Amino acid sequence: MRVDVGSLEELRAKGYLTGKIGSQPVCVFWHADCAYAIDDRCPHLGFPLHRGTVESGIVTCHWHHARFDLCTGGTLDPFADDARAYPVDLAGGRVVVTAEPRPFDKDQTLRRLGEGLEEGLSLVLAKAVLAYSEAGEPLTDLLSVATGFGCTFRQQGFGPGLTVLCAMANVLSSLDPEDRPLALVQGLNFLSGDTRGRPPRFALSPLAGESMPSPERLGAWYRRFIENRSGDAAERALASAVGGGASLQELGRIMGAAATDHVFLDEGHVLDFTNKAFELVDHLGPASAALVLPTLAHETARATRHEEEGAWRHPDDLAALCEEAATRLPAVLEAAGWDGSEGRGDEAATFEEKGGPATLAWTVLEGGAAEIVEALLEAVSGGASAEQLGRAVALAAALRITRFHVQNDHSDWNVVHHGFTTANALHQLLVRAPSPLLLRGVFQVALKVYLDRFLNVPAARLPDEPRGDLDELAACWDVEGRVDEAGRLAYGFLRGGGSREALLAALGHGLLAEDAGFHWFQTYEAAARQAAAWPRGSEEEALILAGTARFLAAHTPTRRELSQVVRIASRLRRGEALYEEAELPSL
Ligand code: FES
Repeated sequence: MRVDVGSLEELRAKGYLTGKIGSQPVCVFWHADCAYAIDDRCPHLGFPLHRGTVESGIVTCHWHHARFDLCTGGTLDPFADDARAYPVDLAGGRVVVTAEPRPFDKDQTLRRLGEGLEEGLSLVLAKAVLAYSEAGEPLTDLLSVATGFGCTFRQQGFGPGLTVLCAMANVLSSLDPEDRPLALVQGLNFLSGDTRGRPPRFALSPLAGESMPSPERLGAWYRRFIENRSGDAAERALASAVGGGASLQELGRIMGAAATDHVFLDEGHVLDFTNKAFELVDHLGPASAALVLPTLAHETARATRHEEEGAWRHPDDLAALCEEAATRLPAVLEAAGWDGSEGRGDEAATFEEKGGPATLAWTVLEGGAAEIVEALLEAVSGGASAEQLGRAVALAAALRITRFHVQNDHSDWNVVHHGFTTANALHQLLVRAPSPLLLRGVFQVALKVYLDRFLNVPAARLPDEPRGDLDELAACWDVEGRVDEAGRLAYGFLRGGGSREALLAALGHGLLAEDAGFHWFQTYEAAARQAAAWPRGSEEEALILAGTARFLAAHTPTRRELSQVVRIASRLRRGEALYEEAELPSL
């Protein structure tokens, strides 16, 4: 497309001309006897560049002072992103700007994504995600670049950044289509923040040779080195197991065992990160296991072991109960003919006859410590599957949030959050790679739920409304303290016949609009997974999502800066003018 923006005489006299290519504002500068055409909206926040200053071949935007090369449009200040430059033709004394449609440039987009991650440029990240989404390109490319970045630029290895990114990738299909780019930007932005200012990680290569130790031996080494807190040795053993061709299920068993060799490692983060690492591999394909999984070694080796803490020892010795349960478990499993996955025939019926996972969850929630352990062992005897045990404990942990009383200290939301998201991670791992060793985690997480019992004293009243409205729910995010109301509305919406999808989309919209923290993303994603584990329209589904609505309402509103950045990025991409000339101050 060729657009005549005025005469050369006018350009020389005024110093610049403006025009439009379609809806895109463009300006032409006259500088050092040459004409230069460039976007007239600063790629940072859209200020008109013709209002800037030109000198030495550079135009400087007057808002945040980003500088752009007039020849190429490239910025000298990466926070602002590059502007687009256009060819100018001055034939016949007219100033004609030419603009060809610009095809999607995948390499350039991924390069900018990398720069956005390095520099913490949320606007640049937003533009890359929007460009990718609009081009219809597979988002796994973005995930792959971001995962490589996260595995390289955090010396400690897998952490909150990759966890949030993976959680957002997991829930994309639960979100409104217009919220999906924002979810990815939230994840990428969080990853960037989690790496900046940290030393990089140098991955250890796997052992190599004609004959390699077996996966069983490498797995035993991994657990031993984790036990000794030898992070490097553990990483090399694990990298060798991956490189030697151990299946994802074998690796899941090895890492699941190490993650439950001690009680509730690092407030459950080790189980959570381990699960998320496997889920990231699910997104990227099995070949990514060599990159992703060994990043867990150091995190696991250095983790806090909660049996060393007083809370797990007094007044009940919960750590000893975990140990006793782990000692008794193999015989109980053997007697029950446990095959590691599904319930078993008549014995499975025993567990179901006694109420199944829902009844077990209430025992975990309200029982004494020893009673909980016996109930879990009895469930195993009665034929409960690993999945059912994990689901029951996750429901109990979710109910801690649903019954969390707002008289508690605000920071205690984090305490009940840890129980819930760890329980969800354990549940997912038990489905993926069930093993007798990983089943020890059921006792650990159940006793963590027990440990948090005082946060339900008094217990918040469980919601029982027959209906709820999503618009009213959305209003809860705008005012502090509407915790119980949010729970009632979410519960009532489902009990009144509303769909899980609509509620999850509404909760996701509320989450993503905020400058959300690590725990918020985790809670939402865990709730989406756990709600889906129960029948549609069930009481359990409604109570889990009511708890999540309460959690969100307890933390909102925030400044909502990131969602504003994404809105600006999408307006810039659509070619909208963000400022009218009349709104601008005179020079
Ligand atoms: S630097 Fe131009 S709008 Fe911010």
